[in-house]
Amino acid sequence: MTTLIDKYNRHLNYLRISVTDRCNLRCIYCLPRGFIPKLSHEDVLSYEEILRLVRLGVRLGISKVRITGGEPLVRKGIYDFLRALSEIRGLSDISLTTNGVFLTQNIDKIRAAGIRRINISIDSLNPGKFEYITGRNCFEPVWDGIMSAYEAGFAPIKLNVVALNGINSDELTEIARLSFSYPFHIRFIEYMPIGKSELGTRNAKFEMLAPEIIKRIRSLGKLNPVENAMNDGPADRYKFEGAKGEIGIIRPLSHHFCYKCNRLRLTASGQLRACLLSDHQEDLKTPLRKGFSDKQISDIFVKTISMKPFKHQLSLRHSDKVSSQMSAIGG
Ligand code: 5AD
Ligand code: SF4
Repeated sequence: MTTLIDKYNRHLNYLRISVTDRCNLRCIYCLPRGFIPKLSHEDVLSYEEILRLVRLGVRLGISKVRITGGEPLVRKGIYDFLRALSEIRGLSDISLTTNGVFLTQNIDKIRAAGIRRINISIDSLNPGKFEYITGRNCFEPVWDGIMSAYEAGFAPIKLNVVALNGINSDELTEIARLSFSYPFHIRFIEYMPIGKSELGTRNAKFEMLAPEIIKRIRSLGKLNPVENAMNDGPADRYKFEGAKGEIGIIRPLSHHFCYKCNRLRLTASGQLRACLLSDHQEDLKTPLRKGFSDKQISDIFVKTISMKPFKHQLSLRHSDKVSSQMSAIGG
Protein backbone atom coordinates (compact mmCIF):
# COMPACT_ATOMS: atom_id res chain seq x y z
CA MET A 1 0.00 0.00 0.00
CA THR A 2 1.31 3.43 -0.80
CA THR A 3 -0.34 6.29 0.99
CA LEU A 4 2.66 8.56 0.83
CA ILE A 5 2.05 10.06 -2.57
CA ASP A 6 2.13 13.84 -2.65
CA LYS A 7 0.11 16.24 -4.74
CA TYR A 8 2.81 16.26 -7.41
CA ASN A 9 2.55 12.47 -7.69
CA ARG A 10 5.89 11.83 -6.01
CA HIS A 11 5.94 8.46 -4.26
CA LEU A 12 7.73 9.03 -0.99
CA ASN A 13 9.12 5.59 -0.33
CA TYR A 14 12.52 6.54 1.06
CA LEU A 15 13.12 7.55 4.67
CA ARG A 16 16.46 8.93 5.79
CA ILE A 17 16.95 8.66 9.51
CA SER A 18 19.47 10.68 11.50
CA VAL A 19 20.11 8.59 14.63
CA THR A 20 22.31 11.21 16.29
CA ASP A 21 23.36 14.82 15.78
CA ARG A 22 26.78 14.03 17.24
CA CYS A 23 29.87 13.51 15.18
CA ASN A 24 33.52 12.76 15.84
CA LEU A 25 34.51 14.99 12.90
CA ARG A 26 33.97 18.69 12.16
CA CYS A 27 33.74 18.87 8.41
CA ILE A 28 34.25 22.44 7.35
CA TYR A 29 31.03 22.53 5.28
CA CYS A 30 28.91 20.85 7.90
CA LEU A 31 29.75 22.11 11.37
CA PRO A 32 31.42 25.10 13.02
CA ARG A 33 34.78 24.46 14.68
CA GLY A 34 33.89 25.98 18.06
CA PHE A 35 31.33 24.93 20.63
CA ILE A 36 28.30 23.15 19.19
CA PRO A 37 25.19 22.71 21.33
CA LYS A 38 24.17 19.05 21.31
CA LEU A 39 20.84 17.43 21.81
CA SER A 40 20.44 15.90 25.25
CA HIS A 41 19.87 12.18 25.62
CA GLU A 42 16.12 12.69 26.18
CA ASP A 43 15.81 14.92 23.13
CA VAL A 44 16.97 12.14 20.84
CA LEU A 45 14.51 9.46 19.76
CA SER A 46 15.19 6.08 21.33
CA TYR A 47 15.82 3.15 19.02
CA GLU A 48 12.43 1.71 20.03
CA GLU A 49 10.75 4.95 18.98
CA ILE A 50 12.56 4.98 15.64
CA LEU A 51 11.64 1.34 15.01
CA ARG A 52 7.98 2.06 15.69
CA LEU A 53 8.06 4.95 13.21
CA VAL A 54 9.74 2.79 10.58
CA ARG A 55 7.13 0.06 11.01
CA LEU A 56 4.37 2.64 10.58
CA GLY A 57 6.21 4.17 7.62
CA VAL A 58 6.46 0.77 5.94
CA ARG A 59 2.70 0.36 6.23
CA LEU A 60 2.34 3.69 4.46
CA GLY A 61 4.68 2.77 1.62
CA ILE A 62 8.24 3.34 2.85
CA SER A 63 10.47 0.60 1.44
CA LYS A 64 13.94 2.11 1.67
CA VAL A 65 15.73 3.43 4.74
CA ARG A 66 19.10 5.11 5.11
CA ILE A 67 20.74 5.50 8.51
CA THR A 68 22.73 8.65 8.85
CA GLY A 69 23.72 11.29 11.41
CA GLY A 70 25.83 13.13 12.58
CA GLU A 71 27.90 10.01 12.61
CA PRO A 72 25.66 6.99 13.20
CA LEU A 73 28.50 4.75 14.37
CA VAL A 74 29.15 6.94 17.44
CA ARG A 75 25.75 6.11 18.91
CA LYS A 76 25.76 3.33 21.48
CA GLY A 77 23.82 0.23 20.51
CA ILE A 78 23.81 1.07 16.80
CA TYR A 79 24.62 -2.46 15.63
CA ASP A 80 21.73 -4.03 17.53
CA PHE A 81 19.51 -1.30 16.17
CA LEU A 82 20.62 -2.01 12.59
CA ARG A 83 19.85 -5.67 13.10
CA ALA A 84 16.38 -4.89 14.49
CA LEU A 85 15.78 -2.61 11.53
CA SER A 86 16.74 -5.29 9.06
CA GLU A 87 14.18 -7.60 10.66
CA ILE A 88 11.31 -5.28 9.76
CA ARG A 89 9.36 -6.91 6.97
CA GLY A 90 8.63 -4.77 3.96
CA LEU A 91 11.93 -2.89 3.92
CA SER A 92 13.73 -3.84 0.74
CA ASP A 93 16.79 -1.70 1.25
CA ILE A 94 18.72 -0.46 4.29
CA SER A 95 21.85 1.60 3.80
CA LEU A 96 24.28 3.53 5.94
CA THR A 97 26.04 6.86 5.56
CA THR A 98 29.19 7.15 7.65
CA ASN A 99 32.37 9.16 7.82
CA GLY A 100 34.22 5.84 7.85
CA VAL A 101 36.42 6.47 10.89
CA PHE A 102 35.02 3.46 12.80
CA LEU A 103 34.32 1.23 9.83
CA THR A 104 37.26 -1.16 9.86
CA GLN A 105 36.72 -2.51 13.36
CA ASN A 106 32.96 -2.74 12.90
CA ILE A 107 32.53 -3.86 9.31
CA ASP A 108 31.63 -7.44 10.29
CA LYS A 109 28.94 -6.23 12.67
CA ILE A 110 27.49 -3.98 9.99
CA ARG A 111 27.44 -6.86 7.54
CA ALA A 112 25.97 -9.23 10.09
CA ALA A 113 23.22 -6.68 10.70
CA GLY A 114 22.15 -7.07 7.08
CA ILE A 115 23.51 -3.81 5.62
CA ARG A 116 25.00 -4.12 2.13
CA ARG A 117 25.22 -0.55 0.92
CA ILE A 118 27.42 2.13 2.45
CA ASN A 119 28.14 5.76 1.63
CA ILE A 120 31.38 7.19 2.98
CA SER A 121 32.56 10.80 2.91
CA ILE A 122 36.03 11.40 1.56
CA ASP A 123 36.77 14.93 0.44
CA SER A 124 40.51 14.59 -0.06
CA LEU A 125 43.14 11.91 -0.64
CA ASN A 126 45.81 14.01 1.00
CA PRO A 127 46.05 13.37 4.77
CA GLY A 128 46.93 17.00 5.59
CA LYS A 129 44.09 18.37 3.47
CA PHE A 130 41.77 15.74 4.89
CA GLU A 131 42.59 17.00 8.37
CA TYR A 132 42.04 20.59 7.26
CA ILE A 133 38.58 19.70 5.93
CA THR A 134 37.41 17.36 8.69
CA GLY A 135 39.19 18.93 11.66
CA ARG A 136 40.74 15.59 12.63
CA ASN A 137 43.80 13.68 11.55
CA CYS A 138 41.95 10.62 10.34
CA PHE A 139 42.57 10.04 6.65
CA GLU A 140 44.17 6.64 7.35
CA PRO A 141 41.31 5.07 9.32
CA VAL A 142 38.81 6.38 6.76
CA TRP A 143 40.76 4.99 3.81
CA ASP A 144 41.22 1.69 5.66
CA GLY A 145 37.49 1.72 6.36
CA ILE A 146 36.70 2.11 2.67
CA MET A 147 39.05 -0.79 1.86
CA SER A 148 37.49 -2.95 4.59
CA ALA A 149 34.04 -2.32 3.18
CA TYR A 150 35.31 -3.18 -0.30
CA GLU A 151 36.99 -6.37 0.85
CA ALA A 152 33.89 -7.37 2.83
CA GLY A 153 31.87 -7.20 -0.40
CA PHE A 154 29.73 -4.14 0.17
CA ALA A 155 28.34 -2.88 -3.14
CA PRO A 156 27.95 -0.34 -4.36
CA ILE A 157 30.25 1.68 -2.13
CA LYS A 158 29.48 5.33 -2.71
CA LEU A 159 32.11 7.91 -1.89
CA ASN A 160 30.75 11.40 -1.16
CA VAL A 161 32.97 14.30 -2.12
CA VAL A 162 31.78 17.84 -1.46
CA ALA A 163 33.45 19.93 -4.17
CA LEU A 164 34.92 23.07 -2.63
CA ASN A 165 36.49 25.70 -4.78
CA GLY A 166 40.02 26.50 -3.62
CA ILE A 167 39.97 23.70 -1.01
CA ASN A 168 39.79 20.35 -2.79
CA SER A 169 39.11 21.55 -6.33
CA ASP A 170 42.69 20.67 -7.33
CA GLU A 171 42.11 17.06 -6.29
CA LEU A 172 38.83 16.23 -7.97
CA THR A 173 40.54 14.59 -10.91
CA GLU A 174 42.64 12.37 -8.64
CA ILE A 175 39.56 11.37 -6.68
CA ALA A 176 37.62 10.64 -9.89
CA ARG A 177 40.53 8.48 -11.04
CA LEU A 178 39.69 6.01 -8.25
CA SER A 179 36.78 4.88 -10.40
CA PHE A 180 39.29 3.22 -12.75
CA SER A 181 40.82 1.09 -10.00
CA TYR A 182 37.75 0.33 -7.89
CA PRO A 183 34.05 -0.23 -8.57
CA PHE A 184 33.19 2.73 -6.35
CA HIS A 185 30.53 5.28 -7.17
CA ILE A 186 32.24 8.60 -6.64
CA ARG A 187 29.72 11.33 -6.07
CA PHE A 188 30.69 14.95 -6.32
CA ILE A 189 28.28 17.10 -4.37
CA GLU A 190 27.75 20.82 -4.76
CA TYR A 191 28.25 22.56 -1.44
CA MET A 192 24.95 23.63 0.10
CA PRO A 193 24.84 26.58 2.48
CA ILE A 194 22.97 24.80 5.27
CA GLY A 195 23.04 25.65 8.97
CA LYS A 196 26.07 27.09 10.73
CA SER A 197 29.28 25.71 9.33
CA GLU A 198 32.88 26.80 9.39
CA LEU A 199 32.69 27.67 5.71
CA GLY A 200 29.51 29.64 6.23
CA THR A 201 31.42 32.02 8.52
CA ARG A 202 34.02 32.77 5.86
CA ASN A 203 33.53 35.50 3.41
CA ALA A 204 34.60 33.70 0.27
CA LYS A 205 33.10 31.72 -2.55
CA PHE A 206 33.58 28.00 -2.12
CA GLU A 207 30.85 26.74 -4.37
CA MET A 208 31.85 24.75 -7.34
CA LEU A 209 29.04 23.92 -9.70
CA ALA A 210 28.56 20.76 -11.70
CA PRO A 211 29.76 22.07 -15.08
CA GLU A 212 33.08 23.12 -13.54
CA ILE A 213 33.45 19.77 -11.76
CA ILE A 214 32.86 17.91 -15.01
CA LYS A 215 35.24 20.19 -16.88
CA ARG A 216 38.01 19.30 -14.45
CA ILE A 217 37.56 15.54 -14.38
CA ARG A 218 36.97 15.23 -18.15
CA SER A 219 40.71 15.10 -18.77
CA LEU A 220 40.62 11.50 -17.48
CA GLY A 221 38.81 10.10 -20.50
CA LYS A 222 35.48 9.74 -22.21
CA LEU A 223 32.67 10.27 -19.72
CA ASN A 224 29.56 8.41 -20.78
CA PRO A 225 26.17 9.03 -19.16
CA VAL A 226 24.64 6.06 -17.28
CA GLU A 227 20.91 5.61 -17.53
CA ASN A 228 19.23 6.54 -14.23
CA ALA A 229 17.06 3.74 -12.88
CA MET A 230 13.76 4.43 -11.12
CA ASN A 231 14.22 5.74 -7.58
CA ASP A 232 17.86 6.19 -8.27
CA GLY A 233 18.35 9.24 -6.15
CA PRO A 234 19.46 12.65 -7.21
CA ALA A 235 22.85 11.93 -8.79
CA ASP A 236 23.46 12.43 -12.51
CA ARG A 237 25.39 9.27 -13.30
CA TYR A 238 28.40 8.86 -15.58
CA LYS A 239 31.11 6.34 -16.23
CA PHE A 240 34.54 6.80 -17.76
CA GLU A 241 35.15 4.45 -20.66
CA GLY A 242 37.03 1.45 -19.28
CA ALA A 243 36.35 2.35 -15.63
CA LYS A 244 35.12 -0.10 -12.99
CA GLY A 245 33.18 2.42 -11.01
CA GLU A 246 30.93 5.38 -11.69
CA ILE A 247 30.91 9.10 -11.28
CA GLY A 248 27.85 10.83 -9.85
CA ILE A 249 27.18 14.53 -9.74
CA ILE A 250 24.73 15.82 -7.15
CA ARG A 251 23.59 19.28 -8.06
CA PRO A 252 21.24 20.71 -5.46
CA LEU A 253 22.17 24.25 -6.50
CA SER A 254 22.64 24.21 -10.23
CA HIS A 255 19.83 21.83 -11.09
CA HIS A 256 16.52 21.14 -9.43
CA PHE A 257 15.99 17.43 -8.98
CA CYS A 258 13.08 18.06 -6.66
CA TYR A 259 10.49 16.92 -9.20
CA LYS A 260 11.59 13.32 -8.71
CA CYS A 261 12.53 13.49 -5.04
CA ASN A 262 11.19 10.47 -3.14
CA ARG A 263 12.63 11.32 0.28
CA LEU A 264 11.40 11.99 3.75
CA ARG A 265 13.78 12.71 6.62
CA LEU A 266 13.50 11.90 10.28
CA THR A 267 15.79 14.06 12.40
CA ALA A 268 17.59 12.85 15.50
CA SER A 269 15.11 14.76 17.64
CA GLY A 270 12.10 13.14 16.01
CA GLN A 271 11.05 15.78 13.50
CA LEU A 272 9.76 14.60 10.15
CA ARG A 273 10.88 16.73 7.21
CA ALA A 274 9.60 16.46 3.68
CA CYS A 275 12.47 18.46 2.20
CA LEU A 276 16.12 18.80 3.20
CA LEU A 277 16.15 22.36 1.99
CA SER A 278 13.05 23.67 3.70
CA ASP A 279 12.81 24.24 7.43
CA HIS A 280 9.25 22.97 7.64
CA GLN A 281 8.97 19.93 9.89
CA GLU A 282 6.37 18.07 11.92
CA ASP A 283 7.04 16.87 15.44
CA LEU A 284 6.70 13.11 15.93
CA LYS A 285 8.54 12.83 19.24
CA THR A 286 5.87 14.50 21.36
CA PRO A 287 3.02 12.44 19.87
CA LEU A 288 5.10 9.27 20.33
CA ARG A 289 5.71 10.09 23.98
CA LYS A 290 2.12 11.15 24.60
CA GLY A 291 0.96 7.71 23.49
CA PHE A 292 -0.66 8.66 20.18
CA SER A 293 -2.19 5.74 18.30
CA ASP A 294 -0.69 4.32 15.11
CA LYS A 295 -3.44 6.04 13.14
CA GLN A 296 -2.71 9.43 14.70
CA ILE A 297 0.99 9.11 13.98
CA SER A 298 0.34 7.93 10.44
CA ASP A 299 -1.77 11.05 9.94
CA ILE A 300 1.28 13.15 10.81
CA PHE A 301 3.26 11.39 8.07
CA VAL A 302 0.50 12.20 5.61
CA LYS A 303 0.31 15.82 6.79
CA THR A 304 4.09 16.20 6.41
CA ILE A 305 4.10 15.07 2.83
CA SER A 306 1.30 17.47 2.02
CA MET A 307 3.82 20.22 2.92
CA LYS A 308 6.54 18.95 0.60
CA PRO A 309 7.41 21.86 -1.64
CA PHE A 310 7.44 21.31 -5.38
CA LYS A 311 10.86 22.89 -5.58
CA HIS A 312 13.34 24.06 -2.98
CA GLN A 313 14.15 27.74 -2.68
CA LEU A 314 17.83 27.49 -1.87
CA SER A 315 19.68 29.66 -4.33
CA LEU A 316 23.19 30.60 -5.16
CA ARG A 317 22.55 33.98 -3.61
CA HIS A 318 22.02 32.25 -0.23
CA SER A 319 18.98 34.38 0.31
CA ASP A 320 17.03 31.47 1.72
CA LYS A 321 19.54 29.81 3.98
CA VAL A 322 18.33 26.68 5.72
CA SER A 323 18.82 27.24 9.43
CA SER A 324 18.87 23.64 10.72
CA GLN A 325 22.18 21.83 11.00
CA MET A 326 22.96 19.17 8.39
CA SER A 327 24.28 16.95 11.19
CA ALA A 328 20.86 16.99 12.84
CA ILE A 329 18.77 16.63 9.69
CA GLY A 330 20.95 13.94 8.22
CA GLY A 331 22.93 14.50 5.03
N1 5AD B 1 26.78 20.65 1.42
C1 5AD B 1 26.84 19.53 0.69
N2 5AD B 1 26.95 18.30 1.22
C2 5AD B 1 27.02 18.20 2.55
N3 5AD B 1 27.13 17.13 3.35
C3 5AD B 1 27.14 17.56 4.63
N4 5AD B 1 27.03 18.90 4.68
C4 5AD B 1 26.96 19.33 3.39
C5 5AD B 1 26.83 20.61 2.77
N5 5AD B 1 26.75 21.73 3.48
C6 5AD B 1 27.22 15.76 2.85
C7 5AD B 1 28.59 15.19 2.95
C8 5AD B 1 28.43 13.96 3.73
C9 5AD B 1 26.97 13.70 3.75
C10 5AD B 1 26.52 13.07 5.00
O1 5AD B 1 26.36 14.96 3.62
O2 5AD B 1 29.03 14.76 1.70
O3 5AD B 1 29.08 12.87 3.09
FE1 SF4 C 1 30.36 14.64 10.73
FE2 SF4 C 1 29.34 14.00 8.38
FE3 SF4 C 1 29.13 16.50 9.26
FE4 SF4 C 1 31.51 15.53 8.52
S1 SF4 C 1 29.69 15.83 7.19
S2 SF4 C 1 31.05 16.70 10.41
S3 SF4 C 1 31.39 13.45 9.13
S4 SF4 C 1 28.19 14.72 10.17
